Amino acid sequence: MGENSLSPASITNDLETRFIGQRVIYYPRLTSTMEAARREARLGAVEGTVVIAGEQTAGKGRIRRVWLSPKGSIALSIILYPSLVYLPSLIMLASLAVVHSIEAVAGLKSQVKWPNDVLVNGRKVCGILIESDVRGDIVAYAIIGIGVNVNLRISDFPEILSLATSLSNELGRDISLLSLIRRLLVEIERLYLTLLAGGSIYEEWRDNLVTLGKKVQVNSGKIRYEGLAESVARDGSLLLRHSDGSLTKIVAGDVTLRD
Ligand code: BTN
Repeated sequence: MGENSLSPASITNDLETRFIGQRVIYYPRLTSTMEAARREARLGAVEGTVVIAGEQTAGKGRIRRVWLSPKGSIALSIILYPSLVYLPSLIMLASLAVVHSIEAVAGLKSQVKWPNDVLVNGRKVCGILIESDVRGDIVAYAIIGIGVNVNLRISDFPEILSLATSLSNELGRDISLLSLIRRLLVEIERLYLTLLAGGSIYEEWRDNLVTLGKKVQVNSGKIRYEGLAESVARDGSLLLRHSDGSLTKIVAGDVTLRD
């Protein structure tokens, strides 16, 4: 089996988790793992079920953007059934799990750009999408979608060339997709169990944010803010200090670093 080939058994065999990744649904080619995971969640899939695609033909990014995921990248979605109180932490959990896994498997340092892009050497290697179905205060399901540019020659993708990179581009060699996926699942479960046990991952996420202390421009819906990214709140929102001294709390948005 080549380095970029995957099978459910290769992922689940001896995987050191209790439930995350113990059931894997693998598609060589799929529109989007988010759509497939949503269908599975609605059918009551066991918690920790992972949908993985060898490549996606209609990958979804945040704010209705398209997400490119050709062969050689990781595209996966994980189904969880958390209580409402844990929902804001899923963003932190996913980005930290990616940072830890990249360090462990590729030996590369990465950072988080608020809210949940993972950058290596200032360029994006990973995007994270969290979807949830919340009714009243009950979470019917939550899905963590993670896309990582792993073994891609980034110059083959001019549409993302200016902002993105891949792990192989930064390392100068390919790495094992399988090792990175398995590590990611272990890290996600470890952080999720930390949360369920009453622990906090907020401090570590905050300390990994490249955004803080920088002048930023934030597009949030139709509004554009500018200011100093002063801090993040425990619910994951960004606290932006304006030149007139006022503070805005931004729940969701897209950040451009100004310096
Ligand atoms: C972003 O940065 O805009 C988020 C990108 C999220 C991409 C992942 S790839 C796996 C999962 N399936 C999708 O269609 N999207 C997410």
